Amino acid sequence: MLIAIPKERRPQETRVAATPDTVKKFKALGCDVVVEAGAGAGAKVADQLYADAGAQVAGSAADVLKDADIVLKVARPMDDELPLFKRGAMLAAILAPYANKADAAKYAAQGINAFAMEFMPRITRAQSMDVLSSQANLAGYKAVIDAAAQFNRAFPMMMTAAGTIAPARVMVFGAGVAGLQAIATAKRLGAIVSATDVRPAAKEQVESLGGTFVAVIDEEFKQAETAAGYAKPMSAEYQAKQAALVADTIKKQDIAITTALIPGRPAPVLITEDMVKSMKPGSVIVDLAVEQGGNCPLSKAGEIVDVHGVTIMGLLNLPGRLATDATSLYARNLLNFLTPLIEKGGKSLKIDWEDEIIKGTCLTKDGAVIHPALQ
Ligand code: NAI
Repeated sequence: MLIAIPKERRPQETRVAATPDTVKKFKALGCDVVVEAGAGAGAKVADQLYADAGAQVAGSAADVLKDADIVLKVARPMDDELPLFKRGAMLAAILAPYANKADAAKYAAQGINAFAMEFMPRITRAQSMDVLSSQANLAGYKAVIDAAAQFNRAFPMMMTAAGTIAPARVMVFGAGVAGLQAIATAKRLGAIVSATDVRPAAKEQVESLGGTFVAVIDEEFKQAETAAGYAKPMSAEYQAKQAALVADTIKKQDIAITTALIPGRPAPVLITEDMVKSMKPGSVIVDLAVEQGGNCPLSKAGEIVDVHGVTIMGLLNLPGRLATDATSLYARNLLNFLTPLIEKGGKSLKIDWEDEIIKGTCLTKDGAVIHPALQ
């Protein structure tokens, strides 16, 4: 089988779906690999390194895709890439299926068997394939580094002969994978950190990282986690209580990092304009949820804006700004996903269509959209 690694074409996408290390592993499984020239440029991987690992390097997307049995990408393909796929090819990428529901029909029309990596079930067996975790972890780190770079003050307490600098106060909204890494990073930089979430399990996790947990703990909070481990949308009544608590807490903060998401829905609004107004001038908000509408309605996708004296950062694709590490983890996730699907000798795929991982991630098969979330 031939595995293709095309160059990413979406704006700001610096990552790539394979590294020389994963190319070597695919070769060892008996597959051939073709990489589009320049595919690794954003992640600082030269074509020669892919060639040294055993890949062919081809000049265009058409050359790479035309005979490929498996296509690995980071972001969803552009419409003009789809006709270049061979019918029956398998595609694995971050397909953003909820935000782009019409895409699945296009994959089906091209006969592409498409797998959305962000639909990977959160089960132990799939942890090493979990792209949301591998990328969100880096995003949480980068969000704090971005905030620190933008902030006009230092994070750690400094006692100097010229006086004492107070430590920065950082509040993290949403203590999932990105939020927990943001807490850990802000703590390492010496900030005083608090965090909020609606899932009870988050309390212990925040506290184990040295953060203070701030949340409305009522009956609804106790039921707020779905069986899949995600947060439920909260009632208007809960949201009002949460808003009152946040309003009281946020005016004492210097930095807010927001990461709160609910799969398939717009991000919950957690920092209102009035709350922004109440923050100290020079405060910084990093809204990691901006691609899903934002946890702060004032954040603008892809921009850094100053509103009421507060800098609000809505930069996109934070993992892509750590492209080398993000690529290395993402490529490993794909390798771990594909390895059990490749028949010994690399000649064909052996997919168990009843497997939880396959059922969870497969959007289209044999010309039809099959994922229940897209029906
Ligand atoms: P996510 O990216 O969907 O959401 C981020 C965080 O925002 C979550 O912690 C969520 O509870 C929180 N949130 C949602 N609505 C909120 C609101 N109104 N106010 C405050 N916070 C709100 O979540 P992520 O990071 O993908 O993690 C989801 C779950 O999956 C977690 O329970 C995590 O521990 C679990 N997980 C399990 C894995 C495994 O077992 N293989 C791997 C990775 C994560």
